[in-house]
Amino acid sequence: MTMDALLMAAGSGTRFGAPLPKQYLPLLGRPVIRHAAEALLREGMVRRILPVVAAGEEARVAALLDGLPIAPPVPGGATRAASVRAGLEALAADPPDLVLVHDAARPVIPAGTIAALRAALASAPGAIPAQPVADTLKRGAHGRIVETVPREGLYRAQTPQGFRFGPLLAAHRAGDDAATDDAALLEAAGLPVALVPGAESNVKITWPEDLARVEAHLAARLV
Ligand code: CTP
Ligand code: MG
Repeated sequence: MTMDALLMAAGSGTRFGAPLPKQYLPLLGRPVIRHAAEALLREGMVRRILPVVAAGEEARVAALLDGLPIAPPVPGGATRAASVRAGLEALAADPPDLVLVHDAARPVIPAGTIAALRAALASAPGAIPAQPVADTLKRGAHGRIVETVPREGLYRAQTPQGFRFGPLLAAHRAGDDAATDDAALLEAAGLPVALVPGAESNVKITWPEDLARVEAHLAARLV
């Protein structure tokens, strides 16, 4: 079974607010996106990585990932889902059996995650790493609590998310550009998606303070 990976890097990092999109910022001497690409390759199961980038950034990203098994970067779209669809359409010329979709803003993939996803894909068309919610959850409106939402059975979805290629491409062609992850499109199509263990070290860099958290995980080798 061949497995390729889409590395999603076409976002602009508005919440982070740096002059550069967060995936290009330095982290322990290497750009965040290079950490993410190396993490995808570490378990030895990914054949090649296709970076999906903002239009015009193709050459810069190819240089940042120099020496790694990447396909020529392709331009993404206005939403993450549109960007993933662009990547899947590019892979469709020589489709893998399985595809991982990973955020370039997640530089840490805990050891064993990709093997767990791959194993889960033997019995389901999709699988994602997820962390149980730890905080007590409140629904609020106008500065007041409306209700406490039971957190039992609630998870935070992480990436890489793994899929059989055909069902994911079909779900994206039929799907909704507002979906914030790929599992949601399989769910909408009524297809089962398995949960495998996530980890606190798999931080999605969103706000400036996330960079220090990731650095601590990498420095402590809590990956
Ligand atoms: N992404 C993408 N194409 C988009 C939007 C996002 O490929 N049109 C990628 C981002 O580059 C990131 C991942 O999807 O690696 C997760 O998205 P998010 O954390 O929301 O990143 P940004 O959209 O860049 O950040 P923000 O929402 O704060 O602008
Ligand atoms: Mg975004």
